[in-house]
Formats: sequence, C-alpha cells, structure tokens
Amino acid sequence: MASGLNRRDGKIVSFINMKGGVGKTTSSVTLAETCASEFGWRVLVVDLDAQASASYALCGDERYEAVIEADQSIAAFFEPVTEGRTPRTLSAFITEGEAGDEGDPIVDVVCSEPSLRYTERALIERYYQLRLKRVVTASAPEGQTRRIMRESLGALRTVYDLIVIDCPPGISIFAEAGVACSDLIVAPTIPDYLSTLGLKELNRKFIRQLRRDGNLHGRMAILPTKVRSADATHRKYLKVLDQMVSSDELEAVLLDSFVAESSDIARALDSELRGERFRDKYGKVREDLVALAEEVKGLLEDDNGHVESEPSHKAADARRAERSARSSAA
Ligand SMILES: Nc1ncnc2c1ncn2[C@@H]1O[C@H](COP(=O)(O)OP(=O)(O)O)[C@@H](O)[C@H]1O
Ligand SMILES: [Mg+2]
Repeated sequence: MASGLNRRDGKIVSFINMKGGVGKTTSSVTLAETCASEFGWRVLVVDLDAQASASYALCGDERYEAVIEADQSIAAFFEPVTEGRTPRTLSAFITEGEAGDEGDPIVDVVCSEPSLRYTERALIERYYQLRLKRVVTASAPEGQTRRIMRESLGALRTVYDLIVIDCPPGISIFAEAGVACSDLIVAPTIPDYLSTLGLKELNRKFIRQLRRDGNLHGRMAILPTKVRSADATHRKYLKVLDQMVSSDELEAVLLDSFVAESSDIARALDSELRGERFRDKYGKVREDLVALAEEVKGLLEDDNGHVESEPSHKAADARRAERSARSSAA
C-alpha cells in the first residue's frame, strides 16, 4: 500500500502541568483533531492519565470498555515491566480512530485506565526490591521507563506525523518519561494566581531538574487556556506570564495563541459528538484551535524543519479511503 512507502518523521508533543483542570486533556484532544483534520496529519494520542479522559473522548464509552476488556491499555503495555519482562511493541496497544465524514479527523489512541496507578506502584516496588539487593540504583525506575518510552515512541515516529501525550496532573514516572521524549512540552495554564503558581512549581521541581540531568531536549511552551478576555484578573496574569517568560523566570516561550473559555469546547469533547462534523462541533473556537495548531507546527518545524504537511484534507481523505478499504477487506 502506498502509505507503507511514506515513512514519516513524527514529532512528539506533551501536555503537562502540576495542576488539574487547566485544559491538558482538552488541549491534547483538540490539537490532535485539528492537526489531523486541517493538515491531514496522521496523529496518535497517548493517554498517560489514569483518569482516561482523553481515551473516553476519542473512543466513546462502548469502544473504550472493549479496549480495556481486551487488555489494550498503556497499563497493559507496562505490566510485563513490573515483572522484569520486556513489553510487547506499543503498536499492539493502539486503538485506531474511526473514519467519520470527509474532512473529519482520524486520531488513533493508546488508551489509559485507572489501574495505571497500580502499574506505576508495582514498577516502583520492583525497583525498590532490586535496589535493596543493590542490583540497581535509585533512579532505575525512571531511567528504565524513559528508555522503554523513548524506544516505543521512537518507533512510532515513522508511522505518525504527530504523537500527542496527555499527562496526568502532578508528577508520575510515566509523565516524566513522556516529557523526556518530547520535542515540545506544552503547559496549559489558566491566567490566574493559583495556576501561575502551579506553573512555577512545574518549572522549578520538574522541568529544571530533568534538563539538568540531561533528560529533556524539548522546548517548553506555555498555553493560556480558558481565557476570559474581559476578565481583569486574566488580563493581569497574561502580562505576568509574559514578564516571567521574558525574565527567564520561566524557561519557556509564551504562545501567541490561547484558548478562550467556551462552552463549545467543553461540549465538543463529549464523545457522543464524535459523529458530528469537525468543522461544526467546535463552533467559534475552531479558529483559535487552528491558529494554535499552526503555531505548534511552526515551533516543531523550527526544531529542524522536518515536519511535512500535505494540503488540507487531502491526506486525511486518502487515509480515510485506505481505512475503509482495509476494513471492507477484513
Ligand atoms: N477552553 C475551555 N472552555 C471551557 N471549558 C473548558 C475549556 N478547556 C477545558 N474546559 C473544561 O475544564 C475542565 C477541565 O479540563 P481538562 O482538559 O480535563 O483539564 P486537565 O486535563 O488539565 O485536568 C473540563 O470540564 C473541560 O471541559
Ligand atoms: Mg486531563
């Protein structure tokens, strides 16, 4: 098949923040859908949050339950590692996106599930035991998880144009590993006092440390979310963010794009709307989302100029045809 000859050089973008509720999942899903729909990119979302919100939004309840039933989540992928075995290839854990109408995005996903918390704990416990026996050093769980993630996602770079990682709030071994392999780390943040504090924490306790240890190569970008332009606090904190970035208090770029607070966006993540046309379901915020996707694309190209894009919709439509040919052949 023609697409087999089409080796890609995909980029990895992760969404992270210590705080919950700032729009990490919303931004992950909307960026993925926008890039798939507008640029015709092949996109994969890797859900690393045990809450599995991105998985639900992309699969819908029924399909999601089937994926978990079939042991196809990221937790199932990491399970063998907790017993010292090598995991199977990550591609075996991908749930393919369903083709919608023409111009609609097809986004594949590696789902998460609540038991990811236990997987993480089992992983740490295993290394703790090995450490007691002096087989490994204290940083072994992080190092090993990072290696597995880098190899697994690295292999998928040839298949996807974009891999989006939705991280849980706070710090987890999996989030750390995802961020370590990312070309761009986006921190969505609400422009207010508490969210800005959360951002400082992220920078101080997480990003700086990873960079110092040589485990972070991606650029960091701040994305204001749920912005109410008429709100004086939001306007004030947009300026504060700008100053923090210019003074290097935050080692990041502040994106020009932002996501306005909008009921359309909260509504669009409802998986029951998956059948609704992409162009319609985001309402007025669609323009914001396209501007954001363009800006992210620019930052990724800036990296080394490798991202190729095909004319809007063409590639997505070709992919849709390929998918339906494949499913009717099956
Ligand atoms: N731009 C927005 N406008 C309105 N509601 C939003 C927006 N972005 C996110 N939300 C809502 O805020 C809540 C938290 O968003 P979510 O993406 O789940 O955050 P996180 O992943 O950081 O916890 C959800 O209910 C979501 O629908
Ligand atoms: Mg989330």
